[in-house]
Amino acid sequence: MTLASRWTAALDDLRAKGRHRSFRPPAGLDFTSNDYLGYGGGRRQPAAAPDLQVTGMSSRLLRGHHAVWDEVETMLAAWHGAEAALVMTSGYAANEGLIATVAEPGDWVAVDELSHACIIDGLRVARPRKFLFRHNDLNHLEDGLRAEAAKRPEGRELFVVTESLFSMDGDTALLRELVDLTDRYGAHLIVDEAHTTGCFGPRGSGCVDAAGVRDRVLATVHTGGKALGLPGAYVCASVLLKEFLTNTCRHLIFTTALPPAVGAWWREQIPRVQTDDAGRRTLYENTTAFRAALARHGLAPAGRDYVVPVVVGQDDPAVRAASELQRRGYDVRAIRPPTVPAGTCRLRVSVHANHDAAVLAQLAAAIAEVL
Ligand SMILES: Cc1ncc(COP(=O)(O)O)c(C=O)c1O
Repeated sequence: MTLASRWTAALDDLRAKGRHRSFRPPAGLDFTSNDYLGYGGGRRQPAAAPDLQVTGMSSRLLRGHHAVWDEVETMLAAWHGAEAALVMTSGYAANEGLIATVAEPGDWVAVDELSHACIIDGLRVARPRKFLFRHNDLNHLEDGLRAEAAKRPEGRELFVVTESLFSMDGDTALLRELVDLTDRYGAHLIVDEAHTTGCFGPRGSGCVDAAGVRDRVLATVHTGGKALGLPGAYVCASVLLKEFLTNTCRHLIFTTALPPAVGAWWREQIPRVQTDDAGRRTLYENTTAFRAALARHGLAPAGRDYVVPVVVGQDDPAVRAASELQRRGYDVRAIRPPTVPAGTCRLRVSVHANHDAAVLAQLAAAIAEVL
């Protein structure tokens, strides 16, 4: 078999399973992107900073660092009440890099089974002993922690990693219970706040701050690419962990830094999102109205928040339902394996603050119809 025929066979297999993908430019009303506060919807572009370079030229450890990032990191740490923040190029790099840096072979890392691919890939790089606990099942997690703590060799650390709002399921982690559990077993908790940054808690700083448990987590990961409408991401952690990551995290050291002009966007966007209580209120009103409209049509998706998963089941019916919604002008996509487990394909609706309430009601009716 040639290399080309190996790839062709793999692609044919995806086609046969209804899982083949290709790029397509955006069309129709956006119910797909994670632009929860509507910042990307053309309301306002962040002003360019004319004095700042628009290209990245090298790693932050070389000439890729710029004073604007010190300012941004100070603002981010203050926003979260964290000791320190560290900007990285993407949420993917931040999660994978953080986990790969803090967990060593021989350590034990428990991860919620529905966690994002970059968390799972962090485990692949770090190669610790792994434990996937059933989604939000703290009894299952405790079974794992208890067994590990009993036989834990000296110097071996335990970690637990979860998302705060699950990106494809729309439900939230039980953070207060999780910190109690991790404290009880001396484990370290890492929380991926990709889908909550900007939308949850005091001034939009996320679920960890809303739950008042900042001092009890090892680190949180936040991305700019969702509600904040910015390229890049950051980790909130202690000053010591920031220094450790700066010196040893390969995903930070061996990649070109974001351009300084992007730092100016962050500097401008942070106060905007902190003060956007009106946006957060509208987001929650829209979410409540959309979920209520689905309920009137007999649909009851999981969770309570703005990520709304309508589970269809198999691949083909989910793709057909999404295509019909797209034909009617709603950009709703079918989410299939490997993003979600086989047999749980779904329509994932992302509610935004700038959606029109009447359109959300029409979409709910359309979903009920196409299903
Ligand atoms: C839960 C979660 N974590 C991390 C990421 C990666 O973030 P980024 O898009 O900034 O790489 C995503 C992106 O889809 C995500 O959904």
